[in-house]
Amino acid sequence: MGTDRVNIKNPEGKLGVLIPGLGAVSTTFIAGTMMIRKGLSKPIGSLTQMGKIRTGSGDNIKEINIKDFVPLASLNDLEFGGWDIFEDSVYESALNAEVLSKNDLDRVKDELSKIKPWKAVFNRNYVKNLDGKWVKEAPAHWDLVQLLKDDIAKFKQEKNLNRMVMVWCASTEIYQEIIPGVHDTLENFEKALKENHPAIAPSMIYCYTALDLGIPYANGAPNLCNDIPAFWELADKKKVPMGGKDFKSGQTFMKTVLAPAFKARMLGMNGWFSTNILGNRDGEVLDDPESFKSKEVSKLSVLDQICQPELYPDLYGDFFHKVTINYYPPRGDNKEGWDNVDIFGWLGYPMQVKVNFLCRDSILAAPIVLDLAIFFDLAQRAGLYGNQEWLSFYWKSPMHPPKIEAEHDLFVQLMKLKNKLRVLKNEPVENYGNESYN
Ligand SMILES: NC(=O)c1ccc[n+]([C@@H]2O[C@H](COP(=O)([O-])OP(=O)(O)OC[C@H]3O[C@@H](n4cnc5c(N)ncnc54)[C@H](O)[C@@H]3O)[C@@H](O)[C@H]2O)c1
Repeated sequence: MGTDRVNIKNPEGKLGVLIPGLGAVSTTFIAGTMMIRKGLSKPIGSLTQMGKIRTGSGDNIKEINIKDFVPLASLNDLEFGGWDIFEDSVYESALNAEVLSKNDLDRVKDELSKIKPWKAVFNRNYVKNLDGKWVKEAPAHWDLVQLLKDDIAKFKQEKNLNRMVMVWCASTEIYQEIIPGVHDTLENFEKALKENHPAIAPSMIYCYTALDLGIPYANGAPNLCNDIPAFWELADKKKVPMGGKDFKSGQTFMKTVLAPAFKARMLGMNGWFSTNILGNRDGEVLDDPESFKSKEVSKLSVLDQICQPELYPDLYGDFFHKVTINYYPPRGDNKEGWDNVDIFGWLGYPMQVKVNFLCRDSILAAPIVLDLAIFFDLAQRAGLYGNQEWLSFYWKSPMHPPKIEAEHDLFVQLMKLKNKLRVLKNEPVENYGNESYN
């Protein structure tokens, strides 16, 4: 962006949030947003709603709300629409998910019940453990794109929307690699869409639709989806922001806080064993080894970049990293994660760190969906497009160009995010030292 001044368009009118997948995370996000805008709760966990940013210099340094610093869409201006393979309304789906209590859900029952999913684009080859019937039928992928576009156009008109964003909150699809001739160029991808190629996943059909319509796209799951050259090309061509992958909500969030701390103190690590029990529908989907592979690759990616074993072979050169997820229905959405970290200190003497995180998966993920919807809309109004590296903060496995490493350290990610906001406001970036360090 160089020294060009940035002009951010004002967030006028309503913002439609389009969501493939009306399950635990997205219904918790929608219900929570509705409760918050009624004044029934606070947006805890949301950087856009509760975060502050340091601005000014010298005697004029102050900490102000991020939402007063940059022009963000108001929660009151959000409208929600989405697709699912089950016909349940958002109210029914939220009840099934058992994240929020019936008591809480009933406070926004009327609004929630009105949101009914549109029929999904689905292919069981990509999510083996689910079998819903609320699914679109069409001769080819290309026709499915047109059907999705019809849903979106209708939603836009009915709700009188000014802008939209799409956040993928549907199940994790099987692990895929980029296939030359299908995913490598936009031309090949569009040809493959028309030829109904089996290597095109449903998530790619949603993503293509969004980007082609100029709607920003954020991928909350670890599957390949938008991380293919064809979509980098499409996002550039249509000048639309996109990003992913995989919300950084629980165990990986802790990992990207702890690992930089060990590294900062030059403590060695020779093993990190992570395991989880999880009983919601996400856990059921991840019980299929092919869907788990997508998650595993995403969860494993973080430590190498943080530890830089090639630069610190004595500390991290011989390192074993293992991640497992076990489907255990009694726990529902209340995941329990255990981490055992084998570290070593002075003279190589070993120590262990144990983390037992009794988290609530969707309670951690819901504010991430909100922030992504709000920041992707900001990005578009600020004229940003392509991969939004400054939003790496939200991802387990941030998308990055082939020759540039992803940044995983949570606090570096936060610094980059806030500095990007400063750039958007034409203010100098911060190095987080006080004046005497400058
Ligand atoms: N909860 C977290 O902390 C967290 C963190 C990182 C990533 N994620 C990812 O977010 C996604 C949602 O998680 P969740 O806990 O809400 O799962 P969930 O199973 O409760 O919800 C997913 C929903 O997507 C629907 N679905 C599946 N395929 C679809 C398709 N092709 N089109 C439309 N709908 C489809 C399912 O029917 C289900 O209702 C998962 O991919 C999960 O891996 C969640």
